[in-house]
Amino acid sequence: MKIGIDLLHFATADYYLGLDTFATEKHLDVDKFYIGIGQEKMSISPPDEDVVTLAAKAAAPILDQIDANEISAILFATETGVDQSKSAGVFLHGLLNLSKHCRVIEFKHACYAGAAALQMATTMVRANPKEKVLVIAADIAKYDIDSSGEATQGCGAVAMLVTASPRIIMIEPGSGYFTDDVMDFWRPNQRTTALVDGKYSTKVYLSSLKQTWDHFTEQTGRTFEDIDYFCYHIPFTKMAEKAHQTLVRKVGATLTPAEFEAQTVPSQFYNRIVGNSYSASLFMSFISLLDHIESNIENKRISFFSYGSGCVAEFFTGIMQPGYQSVLMTAEHKQKIAQRTALTYAQYLEFYYQAEQLEENIVYEPKNRGAYRLAGIENYKRYYQKNKPES
Ligand code: COA
Repeated sequence: MKIGIDLLHFATADYYLGLDTFATEKHLDVDKFYIGIGQEKMSISPPDEDVVTLAAKAAAPILDQIDANEISAILFATETGVDQSKSAGVFLHGLLNLSKHCRVIEFKHACYAGAAALQMATTMVRANPKEKVLVIAADIAKYDIDSSGEATQGCGAVAMLVTASPRIIMIEPGSGYFTDDVMDFWRPNQRTTALVDGKYSTKVYLSSLKQTWDHFTEQTGRTFEDIDYFCYHIPFTKMAEKAHQTLVRKVGATLTPAEFEAQTVPSQFYNRIVGNSYSASLFMSFISLLDHIESNIENKRISFFSYGSGCVAEFFTGIMQPGYQSVLMTAEHKQKIAQRTALTYAQYLEFYYQAEQLEENIVYEPKNRGAYRLAGIENYKRYYQKNKPES
């Protein structure tokens, strides 16, 4: 039985900060970002945007195409949770008015949780092929002002409908995985921003890739040559480039520069202009590949490397399904990215600090132009609003 992703859509914020603006503000050479880390823009969420509204914007176009009452579970992966007890997915469930006969749970392990939720969803569908599971990976990457991580912020949500007989990609059974208790990135409960040992995190990312690759080959018998395109977790696109170089070296493959680029570059376009979206970034990379590759990739094998600091990593693969092009939402994705508004550094700071004000009662000024927004907090309860449909 084939199980995998049937429909796939992403959302990001309506605003961005250009790294050219950022470089000018910090008196740095912009090539440190354009070339050094391979990033151009960071999507910036206004105070009335959170992972619930991002997730709703990502999921709504999928639900419009199916009988939404058939969703049997929401697996919501995030490390930007909005409550320590109630899962973000239940807010989403209410906002999207889904069937009461649906289970909802939040998954967390840094940027890895999206892959964990996807694997769990395939297991649920394998156990009962009637299930239709909505997997959400949504995050807002936020670091301290003037920290090394500040240039690698961003935000986004990816919604994936996981079913039997999927129209986009079948996720293949078998994967390689790896866990090690390390402190490369963490966010204690009292903080809204992550703490990171940046250079160390890039080292652990690459060593985890080597460990998961060995486990993947042992478990599945698949080789580097069996894979056509490679998607990586992308905190910044240079990281994916370094990851692929590491893998190519490890397996002793000889690739021309053109072959190397063909295997990786299409899967980086969106990430380069959206920034880090933590748990969503690997799947945004996959959507970037689908939306930018010019050739037909039916029956091609795609690999996914998920890395969550702390750390948990997994390497798995999928096979593109015949006719996948007919269900892609490429135009919507490109339009939403193109419609974002550029912020000045001062406007970015205003959003940044307003979002820190976690008061008992607050009413947010409408800034989020999407179909769903966080309207306010009353007696510590978040309340959301459905706006007119996005044009
Ligand atoms: N032109 C071209 N390249 C330049 C440059 C310029 N003017 N100035 C710097 N660079 C290069 C550096 O040589 C370096 O390349 P290298 O990594 O290949 O050596 C790169 O740009 C980054 O510069 P660096 O001085 O190392 O940046 P930094 O101290 O600001 O740290 C991170 C970069 C990624 C560690 C930092 O942004 C961070 O902590 N990010 C958050 C954590 C994260 O995303 N971790 C990833 C694993 S999950």
